[in-house]
Amino acid sequence: MNVKQPYVVTAIAISFVVIVIIISTSSNREVASETTSDDRPDVPKAVSNWPQEELRLGQVSGVAVNSASQPVIFHRPGRSFDQYTFNASSHYQHIADGPITEPTVLTLDPRTGKVVGKWGANFFYMPHGLTIDKHDNMWITDVAMHQGFKFKPGELEPSLVFGEKFQPGSFEKNLCMPTSFAIASTGEIFLADGYCNSRILKFNAAGQLMKVIPNKHEFLSLQIPHGLALLESIDRICIADRENMRVVCPRAGLYGLQGRKEPPLTIQEPDMGKVYDVSVRGNLIYAINGPTSGVIPIVGLTIDPQNEKIIDRWSPPDGGFNLPHAIAVCPNGSSLYVAEINPNKIWKFELVPPK
Ligand SMILES: *[C@@H]1O[C@H](CO)[C@@H](O)[C@H](O)[C@H]1NC(C)=O
Ligand SMILES: *[C@@H]1O[C@H](CO)[C@@H](O)[C@H](O)[C@H]1NC(C)=O
Repeated sequence: MNVKQPYVVTAIAISFVVIVIIISTSSNREVASETTSDDRPDVPKAVSNWPQEELRLGQVSGVAVNSASQPVIFHRPGRSFDQYTFNASSHYQHIADGPITEPTVLTLDPRTGKVVGKWGANFFYMPHGLTIDKHDNMWITDVAMHQGFKFKPGELEPSLVFGEKFQPGSFEKNLCMPTSFAIASTGEIFLADGYCNSRILKFNAAGQLMKVIPNKHEFLSLQIPHGLALLESIDRICIADRENMRVVCPRAGLYGLQGRKEPPLTIQEPDMGKVYDVSVRGNLIYAINGPTSGVIPIVGLTIDPQNEKIIDRWSPPDGGFNLPHAIAVCPNGSSLYVAEINPNKIWKFELVPPK
């Protein structure tokens, strides 16, 4: 007993010192990582005199950026979405007018904003969302047709069609005014459906339905999911949950079942307003809101989804936005584009370090 006691005391003392060292290094590490995440995000700065020529656009509902860093816009020449477009059962009321006869998809030069390519005439009735995946496939929604489409590069006929033409519905094969797509690098397809069903459908790359978000066990209620963006590094699908005035990011489920019970990340602040669209840059989301009430400014929002916070608010000089409808960050993160309705226009912003 007597012999052992000093050893016990020494052992206790040593473990104490070791514990103190562990605690102090780990708290140092936390401080260090907090300082990095406090770094202020790059600020979107409007490029003046862009586009350099007038484009004469209809309502610009969609924008995406292709692998050549060219912005591609989706617009509604000669047509607008108003209270007479659909009746009470969500049927499109102007089928007899036929599809839009002018090109609806325009590829622009990123430097000058001039049109360098156009297609999509005589097909679409009421353009809405446009997404371009890393293989340059175009994913398009038309709210009048109640359909979503995949177009391979250079092809004018869709290779995948979701929903039935002009047939709104809420079961598996029908959509109702679908708004937007997001495509994972692993090929899974997320489709926001949309104005009436307020659900996200997840399909495999071949177009087979895998999952509906929210499922009946999920505590998540969406109200007009209007835009989507994937944050693949943390396995989240971020949704511009427009009428709920928030961005919500449930699990995307790209990497199996791990973490499937974790609650969605939710970003909601009193001045956020109706969020129309979201786009990802690194670990951040750049978003735009739209008309909500006279007291909520219509601006761009920079969001840190992991901390569930808006970390910056930005807008173009002179007058700001009126109805920004879609946003897209270019693949290397150097710029972003905002599509706007009334006035119908496309904005280019460069992302610059804060002053
Ligand atoms: C990103 O892409 C744009 C357009 O192609 C190019 O002008 C710019 O130099 C690129 N920036 C970086 C940081 O690679
Ligand atoms: C809406 O229009 C469709 C076809 O245009 C029609 O079949 C349907 O009955 C209408 N619904 C209502 C509620 O009026």
